[in-house]
Amino acid sequence: MDIGTRIGVVGAGTMGAGIAQLAATAGHQVALVDLSREALDRASTSMQQTFKRLVEKGRMDEARAESILGRIQFSDSIGAMKNAGLAIEAIVERLDAKSNLLRALEDTISEDAVIATNTSSLSIAALGAVLHHPERFLGLHFFNPAPVMQLVEVIPGVATEGRAIGAARNLMEVWGKSPVLAKDTPGFIVNRVARPYYGEALRIYDEGAADIATIDWAMREIGRFRMGPFELMDFIGHDVNYVVTRTVWEAMYFDPRFKPSLTQLRLLEAGRLGRKSGQGFYDYRPGAVAPQPQEDRLLGERIFERVLAMIVNEAADAVLYGVSTVDGIDAAMTLGVNYPKGPLAWADELGVKRIVAVLDGLMNEYDEDRYRVSPVLRRLSGSGGRFKEMRSHA
Ligand code: NAI
Repeated sequence: MDIGTRIGVVGAGTMGAGIAQLAATAGHQVALVDLSREALDRASTSMQQTFKRLVEKGRMDEARAESILGRIQFSDSIGAMKNAGLAIEAIVERLDAKSNLLRALEDTISEDAVIATNTSSLSIAALGAVLHHPERFLGLHFFNPAPVMQLVEVIPGVATEGRAIGAARNLMEVWGKSPVLAKDTPGFIVNRVARPYYGEALRIYDEGAADIATIDWAMREIGRFRMGPFELMDFIGHDVNYVVTRTVWEAMYFDPRFKPSLTQLRLLEAGRLGRKSGQGFYDYRPGAVAPQPQEDRLLGERIFERVLAMIVNEAADAVLYGVSTVDGIDAAMTLGVNYPKGPLAWADELGVKRIVAVLDGLMNEYDEDRYRVSPVLRRLSGSGGRFKEMRSHA
């Protein structure tokens, strides 16, 4: 399947604009479509500013910046993308809106074009089912900001044909990305494996075992994560982060491992969405005093081990259910959300036995399904094996 030179992107918000910029930088003619003229204007202005900065910093010459921008056509009609070899939708995260758009797209573009969705939580199978030709439809899940983040999760639906998958993967490599194949399961790789980073931190806080500043400190100082879970949730926004958690929990038939936190729901209900609203777990208003962590190394180690063990457990389960390979999962977590190490390589380094001991300790204490050990971890722990050895045939 040849995607050719023309790319269409629908939705000129954060993600669509980023994807359009990426495609134009890779040399494509791009049609960027949105219902809203304001969204198109905002996308155009923000791209001009981005390229102006790149030119000022000497990272790009003006002629190149102009030619990239000149390759993007901003339009309020999907008719503008009728010659596209690949159409990517990045509109609002709603099944009805996306289904309607996909139907219209199929009627507009050629029969052999590939159609992709940038959805973060909807089922690829469900979205594809509205098409006459779901075999050329798949998920291409980019990360924000799309021009910068290396990871693209490539998600075939049950009906997707190999040639569409191959064409999309090749193209992502040409664009300089690291495509990782993921199964069409809730949260795909990153939004599933990352859940315990928030969920277990919230649980520790809800139990009163440590305060937010201390948990953030432990994950930054001991775990070497770029941001602690609470500052990260505030940064993402509780409207987005809570909804992703709830969606994954519901889609996993209410598996207790993914159970959302009432504390986070209360923040959302109160309109304390995080940085963007001035308050979340932390107070961002002028003059606010930041809470100080309790820099207790022993407590910090315990917090870090508990959260990491839960992430590893989730990653191990993702291997068990074929969501991706060991390498795919580690690559996704380092390239998509900047984890300092892939969770499975981390487990090898700390010792699978140690991770299992932490989880067994939690299970012993709470007696909840949430802490049951993944059979993959149990097996490796019993045999003294390592994830590294599973890499080639996972
Ligand atoms: P956004 O709200 O910034 O942009 C969505 C745009 O779609 C808006 O400009 C809106 O006017 C437009 N739109 C809505 N319905 C439309 C229609 N029927 N036809 C044409 N345009 C329409 O949203 P954002 O954050 O860019 O997200 C877009 C998609 O990407 C969602 O599916 C989201 O789940 C997914 N995603 C978001 C990430 C993020 O970090 N923001 C990361 C990865 C995926």
